[in-house]
Amino acid sequence: QPQHADYNLYQPITSKTGLRQGLASYGDAHFSLFLRKAFIKAAGYGEDALSRPIIGIINTFSGFNPCHANVPQLMEACKRGVQLHGGLAIEFPTISLHETFSSPTSMYLRNLMSMDTEEMIAAQPVDAVVMIGGCDKTVPAQLMGGISANKPVLPLVTGPMMPGSNKGVRIGACTDCRNNWAAYRAGEIDIEEISSINSELAPTAGTCGVMGTASTMACVTVALGMMPFNSATAPAVSSTRLRVAEETGARAVSVAVAQRKPQAILSKESFRNAITVLQAIGGSTNAVVHLMAIINRHPDIAGSITLQTFDDIGRNVPLLVDLKPSGDNYMTDFHNAGGMLALMQTLRPLLHLDAMTISGKTLGEELDAAPFKPFPYSSTIVRPLSDPLYPKSSLIVLQGNLAPNGAVIKASASKDRRLLSHSGPAVVFKNTADLSKRIDDPNLEVTPDSVLVLQSIGPIGNPGMPEAGVIPIPRKLGKTGVKDMLRISDGRMSGTAGGTIVLHISPESAIVDSVFGIVQDGDIVRLDAEKRQLEIELSDAEIKQRIQKREADLEKQQDGTAGKVGRRAIKAKRGYRGLYESRVNQAEAGCDFDFLRADGAQAV
Ligand code: FES
Ligand code: MG
Repeated sequence: QPQHADYNLYQPITSKTGLRQGLASYGDAHFSLFLRKAFIKAAGYGEDALSRPIIGIINTFSGFNPCHANVPQLMEACKRGVQLHGGLAIEFPTISLHETFSSPTSMYLRNLMSMDTEEMIAAQPVDAVVMIGGCDKTVPAQLMGGISANKPVLPLVTGPMMPGSNKGVRIGACTDCRNNWAAYRAGEIDIEEISSINSELAPTAGTCGVMGTASTMACVTVALGMMPFNSATAPAVSSTRLRVAEETGARAVSVAVAQRKPQAILSKESFRNAITVLQAIGGSTNAVVHLMAIINRHPDIAGSITLQTFDDIGRNVPLLVDLKPSGDNYMTDFHNAGGMLALMQTLRPLLHLDAMTISGKTLGEELDAAPFKPFPYSSTIVRPLSDPLYPKSSLIVLQGNLAPNGAVIKASASKDRRLLSHSGPAVVFKNTADLSKRIDDPNLEVTPDSVLVLQSIGPIGNPGMPEAGVIPIPRKLGKTGVKDMLRISDGRMSGTAGGTIVLHISPESAIVDSVFGIVQDGDIVRLDAEKRQLEIELSDAEIKQRIQKREADLEKQQDGTAGKVGRRAIKAKRGYRGLYESRVNQAEAGCDFDFLRADGAQAV
């Protein structure tokens, strides 16, 4: 009665697809298949279903993740697409990270999620996998894991949320979370108003509705050729979003049959296109870190693209998309204006058109097949090359004695552009606790010309490199109308934030010979964005002497659980935190664990 070849346990097992993958685990491959089929049948699947390409669907739904609240509907639509095209869809979970419910930071858990994603894709009998993600760290974690597992993977994002409204003015997470909080701190709005704003900032399911990290990574994933043009911007609660999910499911079957794997699709040119789009959208500074981690997972590309590449590309790319925080609008506006198709058609002269995409066609072929004629509304949101929002270099990479391995600033999000060329005396906060204790102290010695310095928020120093780089304007200055100051740190900032903020200073202060770690009150710090310089006015001898003193102090602190390990001042040895502090690499390498990189380059 059984007809299917897999029932013939004496037939040689040669196919590498579906249930027949990875059958070595019980020694006897035929017995392993026999066992595997017994258990998958327990889930109710019939022979016909089991003979199809198996498309795994990663379920990242969590009650703690409102950005992923629509995942159940997306899975249903995706399964429909898979099954209408002859595949069998099987969902499985990985961990789910929401930006605000992942203590100490979601970035701390990104590498854990990437390991979960990689290992579950590798372990399970799937021919291709749809990776449903969306919230900030999720898409990077899935791309990192997917590239390392190197089975066919198709990212599917949950999509941006809709904007809300306050007194007739549109508001949305999370640029307006910050603006309004700053206004409340400065006494410009009262407790009633800030409370009613709180209910409108995130009014629907989906990811933050501005050009924050989630939106940036969605756009970057399209630029990499891994998702269809409309799939970055379609709102989470729209029917278009469901149709994108259905289409992704359908496409997964052909990608599975063709065994189109991420390491084969993605090239140096794909990543250069992604960086071009990052600059043109005024994307999140976090995307620089994530892209470096993703790039370094690719065995042929690891190490060949650096921070310098981002700066070099930026010099030729204008900021074209008018979205908060660099501009004024929301992701729904970008979608309605033509979204990524409109942008990539506009950027066409700057893109590598021969880069491959997941459809099996090149980017140029995909763009030829989808012409876009800008209409009047579209060009206010997606500007033409001749009328940009910011001429070029929206994201700038800095170097200098204060940041020998680099630092990043989103120049286009500066609120007071005079500060892009500025020098002033440092006001140093040792860590976030010190900051919250003193920033609003009426006796804090600070003027609008001071440079606010926050140490110990790097990848090791405050594991996961929290988004604390947007140091608040001291209350006493905020009250006098000061809206922006030069602020520098070894941490990150939310992609939704703005200001003249230098981030990702490397080496971070938790590295014992970090120059950033020895900055003191009153030292003169100088930023020259045009020259790409970040300097501290100290002699080499003075720097050396301060570092020696710091090393000696750290030696004394050795107590078994904390102190100096190699060049790192670490706090934990046990568990994931111990692993994190001892193996995470610096921002310019992507804050990945060094042992996950494709080229094995070790962290300091
Ligand atoms: Fe999830 Fe902003 S909190 S994308
Ligand atoms: Mg964010």
